[in-house]
This record gives sequence, structure tokens and C-alpha cells, in this order.
Amino acid sequence: MNNKLILCGLLLTATAYLPAQQRATINLHADQGIHVIPKEIYGQFAEHLGTCIYGGLWVGESSQLPNIKGYRTDVFNALKALKVPVLRWPGGCFADEYHWMDGIGPRHQRPKMVNTNWGGTIEDNSFGTNEFLDLCEMLGCEPYISGNVGSGSVEELAKWVEYMTSEGDSPMARLRRQNGRDKAWKVKYIGVGNESWGCGGNMRPEYYADLYRRYATYCRNYDGNRLFKVASGASDYDYNWTKVLMQQVGSRMQGLSLHYYTVAGWHGSKGAATRFSTKDYYWTIGKCREIEEVIRRHCAIMDQYDPKKRIALMLDEWGTWWDEEEGTVRGHLYQQNSMRDAFVASTTLDIFHKFTDRLKMANIAQIVNVLQSMILTNPQGGMVLTPTYYVFKMYNVHQDATYLPLDISCTQMPVRDGRTVPLLSATASKDQAGKIHLSLSNIDATEEQLISVNLSGMRVKSVSGEVLTSANLTDHNTFEQPDAVKPAVFNGAKLAKETLTVKMPPASIVTLCLQ
Ligand code: AHR
Repeated sequence: MNNKLILCGLLLTATAYLPAQQRATINLHADQGIHVIPKEIYGQFAEHLGTCIYGGLWVGESSQLPNIKGYRTDVFNALKALKVPVLRWPGGCFADEYHWMDGIGPRHQRPKMVNTNWGGTIEDNSFGTNEFLDLCEMLGCEPYISGNVGSGSVEELAKWVEYMTSEGDSPMARLRRQNGRDKAWKVKYIGVGNESWGCGGNMRPEYYADLYRRYATYCRNYDGNRLFKVASGASDYDYNWTKVLMQQVGSRMQGLSLHYYTVAGWHGSKGAATRFSTKDYYWTIGKCREIEEVIRRHCAIMDQYDPKKRIALMLDEWGTWWDEEEGTVRGHLYQQNSMRDAFVASTTLDIFHKFTDRLKMANIAQIVNVLQSMILTNPQGGMVLTPTYYVFKMYNVHQDATYLPLDISCTQMPVRDGRTVPLLSATASKDQAGKIHLSLSNIDATEEQLISVNLSGMRVKSVSGEVLTSANLTDHNTFEQPDAVKPAVFNGAKLAKETLTVKMPPASIVTLCLQ
């Protein structure tokens, strides 16, 4: 046979089996570390909604399920491993109907209420202030209390602060002691209302600004506890809300919140969490990336009134919002969590890191069994760690590390609604021990990506890493197959002089440690 033909045949075969490949470059500026990434960017949110609290975090001491003082043991241990820095509670919309005094004292005597926001479920108040603050202590995280401005009173909120933080012989400290807790808790973050433009009272910003001033006045600092007061902020594109609050509240608040959900609505529903096309996936990434512009514009308004950046932006609700799973209770917002959600998490965290000169906290919605949760549970004792959980775990190396800027050059993909999506997302930081962590997301659904990272000026001797990937973007963990998606050791990074070459599989998320 003619040699040329054989060669040609071989070449054709090789071409046919070579995976298509994207290429990208990154310049990592290790000498330009600017600000610290506050660990609170990795905050969580727990609302009395569906099975987030009851069944998720709390089963009570008399439950058949293994528990530590009433908290589900498996969930508690998984959260401990996640290094949760801050936990927001009790809502959400629930917070503006919550009367904290119903949730203290002997559990069997606590009054019940209807959870009007979330499915009309009967709330028995068995998880209240003591249960929440004890959980935070056990997890080693800061509590973030969301106060009731919509339907509560100034006195009620003032007494709640006293109950939690007063050490002296005050009436509320005495009540706390009667309930078995001698020492005051340390409570730093207090939210003065939630979504006051919506479920928190349907207010106009001017009216809310005055209410904030009034409520916040009586949230006192007791016995060395210093409150960080957070005003209820805007929903995604409502820049006027931020402007009015900055003008009329200003330095009376230490933080101003913002909510942004990655939510679809182009075909009448939000779409199924685990049944979607590649087009839907790219649209989702485009929508989630829009948070960058939203943060930038809110920050620009804050800069006008507070150039020294004394007031923090607190993105205290974010994440994906899909249709509720079939067969679950309407209004309980229970959704599955796939590799697509993992990419929303990694991409969003990459964006957050860029704004940490102003953005001081973010709380993904929500911690267990609600929206883009870390953990799913069932009443039989099953527990699933979601792909989003694993992203948070792989990213917790960035908590309190110094943010390192980087320039990315990669392919852009046009997606539905005129959006464009870069096929590579990345972030880097340097921890206190001098280790550099680089997180990379190959957004490309079908092609691997070869990334060349310029490390000039850095002395790197070794590289190690972890990867999160799966055959399909719709892949997720179930009670039957809890380990379908989980991180693995990554061997695709190679060092050569001052260049790091990383070969990422399609649709993969990698965190590398350089030292
Ligand atoms: O996280 C679910 C709900 O979304 C919260 O209760 C509310 O604040 C927001 O609208």
C-alpha cells in the first residue's frame, strides 16, 4: 500500500478522535495583592421555609435521627467541614412576620403561627433564638439576625437585641437566664427589615429610610457587643433604592443589602433544575454574570455618597431559583442542584472577589433544602451534598486571603438574549501562609480548554489541585446516588519555568494550590 495513503489515513483518524480544544491565557499579578476577601462572602442563609430549619437543620432531641442537642448530626458535620463564616436567620420574608418572643421558653408552650409566605405551613416555633444562636456557637460562625420591621415594633426589636446581648441585670437578660442561658451571646450583624420594598412592607425608599432610622436608633450596643446594622436594600436593578438610602440614611447604617437571583422566566416557568438544554445552561451563566454589572452600578452610587467606603454592600440573598421539584409541597422552594448550579456558584464567587473593597458579605439562598442549597435531606435520614456544596468547599481556601488580580483572555460565546459569556472564569488569592490558590471554571460545555497561566515574578515549586466535573451538566446527587458528582484529585496542571499549563476537561471547575 502507498505510504502516503497510510499516513493520510492515520492523520484523519487522529483528527477525528482529537477532542476539540479552546485556548486561554491568564496573567496572574501575584505582586498586586490588594484587599482581603472577607470570609463573610461565603455566608449562608437559613429561613423558616419548607424544610430548611425543620427536618434540615433541626429535628429535635427526641428524633429517631442521630442528632446533637436536636441538630441533625450529618448536616451539622457537613456544615462544620464547610467553614460557614456567617448565618443569616430567620428570613427572608418570614422575618417580617416573626415575633421572637413566640420562639423562646419551654418548647411545648410556644405558640404556633401560620407561615403565610411559605405554603401556609404551621410553624410551631420550636426552633427560636436560643436554638439558632447555640447552633452558630457550635459551628463557630457569626449570627446575622434579620429583624421584623414590616409587622413588628421598635420595642420588640429593641428587646430582642437586649435579650441576646445584654450581660447585666436587665429585664431581657433575666428572661434569657430563665430560659437557661446565662451568658449573653455575641451578635454582630443585625438586619433592619428584609425586602422592605416587597414582602417586608411594600414601602417606598423614602418611607423605609425614616423607619430604618427609627428602628436602628433603639438597637443598642450592650456590654461591649457592637452591632453592625444593615439596612434593607434593593432588588437587583433598583438603583434608586440604593441612592435614596445612601442620601437619607448614610452613616447611620454600617451595611446596605442587595438581593440578586439567577432566575429564568422566558417560557412562563423558571425551568426545571435538572432538565435543561445546553442553550439554557449558557443563558443561565449569562444571567448569573449580570450580577457583576449590578454590583458595579450599586457600588458606583455608594461611592458618590461614601467615597471612603465606610458603608458595606451586603449581598445577603443570591443564587439560582428553579421550579419546585415535582411531588414536593408548593411554596417550599425545594429544588435539585446540578453541575449548572455549581458553575453559577463558582462564577459568582469569582465576581464577588473583585468587589471586596465594598462588598463585605454575601449569603447564598439557602443552606439546606431551599433554592440553591448546600445540602438536601429527607425525613428517612438521607443526606446529599450538592455540587454547590463542593464548590463552596473547594473555594473556602480563599476565605480571608488576599485577592490577587488577574487578566483573562479567552473565547466569548454569544448566548440567548444578546448576552455574551466568556468561556473561562477565574480568581486567585494568597493566604496567610503564602500559598496561592487559583480557581478556574471551564464554562465550555463540550470542549476541553488549555490555559496558559503567566506566573512571572513568582517562585512556584509545586502545584496540586482538585476538580469538580461530570459527564453531563444536568448531573446531580440523589439519595440513591449521593456521590454521582464529587471532587477528585486533579493532575492536569504542569509547571514549566514561569508558566503553568492547565488542561481542563469540558465543563469543569478546578482549584489549584501553588507553593
Ligand atoms: O430566599 C427566598 C425568598 O426570596 C426570601 O424569603 C425573600 O427575601 C426573597 O424574596
